[in-house]
Amino acid sequence: MLQGDTAQPSSRSDAPSETVSTIVLAAGAGTRMRSATPKMLHRIAGRPLVEHAVRAAAGVDPDSLVVVLGHGRDAVAEHLTGLAAVLDRPISTAVQEEQLGTGHAVACGLSELATGLTGTVLVSYGDVPLLDSATLRGLLDEHRESGNAVTVLTAVVDDPTGYGRMLRDADGQVIGIVEQKDATAEQAEITEINSGVYAFDAELLAAALKQLSTDNSQGELYLTDVLSIARADGLAVGALVCADPWLVEGVNDRVQLANLGAELNRRLLLHWMRAGVTITDPNSVWLDCDVVLDRDVVLEPGVQLRGGTTVGEGATIGPDTTLTGCTVDPGASVVRTHGEGAEVGANATVGPFAYLRPGTRLDANGKIGTFVETKNASIGEGTKVPHLTYVGDATIGAHSNIGAATIFVNYDGVAKHHTVIGSHARTGADNMFVAPVEVGDGAYTAAGSVITQDVPPGAMAVARGRQRNIEGWVARRRPGTAADQAAQQALANEPTTNPTKDAQ
Ligand code: UD1
Ligand code: CA
Repeated sequence: MLQGDTAQPSSRSDAPSETVSTIVLAAGAGTRMRSATPKMLHRIAGRPLVEHAVRAAAGVDPDSLVVVLGHGRDAVAEHLTGLAAVLDRPISTAVQEEQLGTGHAVACGLSELATGLTGTVLVSYGDVPLLDSATLRGLLDEHRESGNAVTVLTAVVDDPTGYGRMLRDADGQVIGIVEQKDATAEQAEITEINSGVYAFDAELLAAALKQLSTDNSQGELYLTDVLSIARADGLAVGALVCADPWLVEGVNDRVQLANLGAELNRRLLLHWMRAGVTITDPNSVWLDCDVVLDRDVVLEPGVQLRGGTTVGEGATIGPDTTLTGCTVDPGASVVRTHGEGAEVGANATVGPFAYLRPGTRLDANGKIGTFVETKNASIGEGTKVPHLTYVGDATIGAHSNIGAATIFVNYDGVAKHHTVIGSHARTGADNMFVAPVEVGDGAYTAAGSVITQDVPPGAMAVARGRQRNIEGWVARRRPGTAADQAAQQALANEPTTNPTKDAQ
């Protein structure tokens, strides 16, 4: 389930070439989610449940992969189309119009595959997100080596409520599966459960599905009945016990969604800590599956890294930072920041309290400081935007300094325009750059200026009203006030006239 898991080559390369087909069941309604979103598209660690399941199935490098869709089929199919492109492999879909049971769902999946299919059919569920390719490969290996007609993945759990129970004879041989609702009190005590993941001989499966009946408490076609049908035909049926019950746990409601999400996150954190990342407080750090971290990265408390964010060697993120689809280069520091689609160069610093929006590119050794918002902004090497500033639709050269409280006025109410500031420029505090406008290399602008015209290289631009002092105004217009008294006292203590300072 970790990054790169599905990219591993198949372990079947040395095995006899037998066809492996995978069917992922994903038609269920997910009623207990109580959601307008199909259950299969609820996410943990940044990926929809169905994507976790499909990536695991794809990781065994099967000859074909079919997902059985029903509820929310259009939205789920759309996601699978995108995923097929990412995985660079075909993903077929079959539609189960009515959810008549797991046996019926597998029959729908089989109808998408070649008639007269031979080899092995691997069945898994779209709502079991922690199941990994390694476990599926283990099930296929066990199935092949044992010569079973059916090999089922099971687990021993503390609370088997809701699951089908594994029935074994006195010799411990698997004889069948009984659903909770059909179980006797004695059978209900069994703690070995059916995970719902199986390897079937393809011909046995096709034949047995035709023999299923709805003669059970739920009136459904139970896939589980294939085991007893195989047994009755004198075929071998076996089980592989999964030592880690988390891997076979499914999501039926939002409590399970949160629990499995937390467990997956815990495993991702362990992976990265073992790979050389310091995570100060693993209880408050959340990572997506596709995040990539380099050696000696430090993640401080309250960090969420989402959507393919990558962090280079020795960079520090946090505390209290959320980055989605960002790239942070080695040695950079990003503190109390919300970032999306931004690139932070080597040894650059960001925050505290910065908002990086898509298209932000801060080059090496640059600074985006406190209460600064950036969007579609390229900020050159060593350039600093330290305080209280909005930089939207701008290109700033290298080694420039943007004065505090500057606004890049990019929007005229109809269209967005671009501002260009050169290298080694020094712009004054509280400027507005009314785009489109350009400030040349080495130019200065005066504090408080509203820059509406281009500034040539090396010039000083002053664009504001000249200061005028009206002496004695308070004494005339606000006589007797505290201000007047303070002024009189100050003037009495200062016999010389107050020099009128004319700002440049
Ligand atoms: C099933 C098994 C049970 C096992 C449990 C593991 C049967 C009869 N029972 O229980 O032994 O312990 O899984 O979780 O197989 N689905 C469809 N179409 C359907 C019905 C289900 O696609 O008509 C899909 C669901 O979307 C889900 C999966 O199959 O992904 C399992 O369905 P669910 O109803 O949760 O399983 P149970 O039948 O309760
Ligand atoms: Ca279930």
